[in-house]
Amino acid sequence: MDIRFSENTEPLVPSAIREIFKSLTDPSVISFAAGNPSPLCFPSEQFRRFCGEILEDDPAAALQYGITEGYTPLRQALQKRCRTRFGIGDGNSVIVTTGGQQGIDLTAKVLCNRGDTVICEEPTFIGALNAFRAHGCNTAGVPMRGASIDPDELEAVIKRAERPKLIYLIPTFQNPTGRTMPEDVRAACLRIAEKYGLLILEDNPYGELRFSGEDVPTIKSMDKEGRVIYCSSFSKILSPGIRVGYVICRDDVASKIAVCKQVNDVHTNQLMQMVCHRFMTDFDLDAHIKRITQIYRKKAALMIGALDETCGGVIEYTRPEGGLFIWAWLPALTDHDGFVKALAAKKLAVVPGSTFSCTAGAPSAGFRLNYSMPADEQIIKGVEILKDTAKEFI
Ligand SMILES: Cc1ncc(COP(=O)(O)O)c(C=O)c1O
Repeated sequence: MDIRFSENTEPLVPSAIREIFKSLTDPSVISFAAGNPSPLCFPSEQFRRFCGEILEDDPAAALQYGITEGYTPLRQALQKRCRTRFGIGDGNSVIVTTGGQQGIDLTAKVLCNRGDTVICEEPTFIGALNAFRAHGCNTAGVPMRGASIDPDELEAVIKRAERPKLIYLIPTFQNPTGRTMPEDVRAACLRIAEKYGLLILEDNPYGELRFSGEDVPTIKSMDKEGRVIYCSSFSKILSPGIRVGYVICRDDVASKIAVCKQVNDVHTNQLMQMVCHRFMTDFDLDAHIKRITQIYRKKAALMIGALDETCGGVIEYTRPEGGLFIWAWLPALTDHDGFVKALAAKKLAVVPGSTFSCTAGAPSAGFRLNYSMPADEQIIKGVEILKDTAKEFI
């Protein structure tokens, strides 16, 4: 029997990352392809303790239906932390979501009509691209150059786009490039959004994972009229398996998101929301974040040091100050697909750039490297494979 799937799902491309994961059952493959935080960073003992205490002290609250907007004490704690940590002022509501991914999906759902265009950094996060495509949106990319996008190019892409509606940005430790948008570019993006009557979705799941340099103000902290919808999650600081994220935005947008979330999943897992609340109030979250960023600092330095030592002049790469990713490319290549396949044949998995492109079928402008998951010796061996393979391509 032939099944005709919906038009909305037609443009969805299976994540190459998931496909790559299938090859990773071979233990001899070194993977720089993951997007996962290191399991060394999971506060497992505290999870066990908080779950036990909550189920002992208040089982009814943890096991009963909750409200769609989220567990109120968690929403209050998030509001407070995002005010002090990320300058997000009053006049906004917090909606707890089932991961940041649901925040992106619901934002597109409440704002975009079929045929609207979402302007994105090029390359950008595949999960967001697929969410926009699933709502019938076109995606238009503004190329990442140097530290970030060029505001003039952003404006040019907006002018060319059909029914532009939303600008999707990952300003801090971007996925996949690891780059951080400078403050003046953030301010310029907001001014351009104002000029063209667009909204900005600021996605900040890596913002707490800074291991060097200085914080840059969030775009949301510059937003005076509720033009920015801010999205983040506990995935990268506590655990992605618990699926707790959040959106902070103007009350009217938040109310719409809540109605749509009710249709999706009624509310986010209540026990895990209560656990996140305990992490925010009965635990030194800052000390934990400091500990995990030290792990990532060491891993990133190891990979960058190995790249500097062996790949200089052949491979170029970003130097992230936080997050989980390095973006790399061979200046000699315009399409890196063959290179990525050659790496796979030598049992090194990386994610090809085409995965993150706004344009289906676009060539791979580079590839993404992850340093949080591989063991130290795998980082050294994997970079050796990169170097040896690159020599065959220049
Ligand atoms: C940029 C970005 N946004 C959002 C997400 C979604 O994360 P989660 O749904 O686990 O919060 C990810 C996950 O990797 C990401 O890289």
